[in-house]
Amino acid sequence: MNLTGQCLANLIAATSLTNLKNLGIVLFLVLVIGVGTIIYYFYIKSLRLKHNNPENKNNKRPININRRNFLVGIFVLALAGIIAQFLLPLLELLRKGTVVTGEISAGQETPPKIANVAEVPPGSQVSFVLRRNPDGSPGQHPAILIRLTEDKAAVVGKEFVAYSAICTHLGCIVSYKSEEDTIFCPCHAGYFDPTNGKVISGPPKKPLPEVKLRIDENGDIYAEGWV
Ligand code: FES
Repeated sequence: MNLTGQCLANLIAATSLTNLKNLGIVLFLVLVIGVGTIIYYFYIKSLRLKHNNPENKNNKRPININRRNFLVGIFVLALAGIIAQFLLPLLELLRKGTVVTGEISAGQETPPKIANVAEVPPGSQVSFVLRRNPDGSPGQHPAILIRLTEDKAAVVGKEFVAYSAICTHLGCIVSYKSEEDTIFCPCHAGYFDPTNGKVISGPPKKPLPEVKLRIDENGDIYAEGWV
């Protein structure tokens, strides 16, 4: 799936009403529409006051305020709310100057490193894009590299892990939340275990596909493909 497809998937996933977690989305929309209605009401009122003011000679055009314009305004506000909530993780991923890398394969030029170990403190993530999907098809697949917290790293015996950043429920972008030490999907509150990518709670049924990593003698981290 490419990044444009991912945007679409995020929107579709965000607006689907397949489980109770989406109640939060409905409440959020109600809130956006409510606030939007109030703002729009006062905006229209101020325009009318201005228009009806006899001292305002410059305002000659009648203001065309009808129910259709009103509903369009509310719809735009609601849509902006949805986009802001569900595309932020994706925009965040793009904003960080994400590394686009490929798998290391014999006889080919080494693809860009994802990061150096010194650049990734414990309990943090780096986003990258892998030029292959987990099913083996070529593509631009968003992924996350995570340096586990020291406690977790001691338990599982490795510091760095990487997974697909595409939620296995309906395809939103997941990210590592350091405050909760989990991988989180904002669309329907899906939680994954950062040590193995397995589902902790929420609607996803399958674990996140894992990326095989290689760390060279300089501490540079590369993706070796999907596990
Ligand atoms: S898309 Fe539904 S929990 Fe991630």
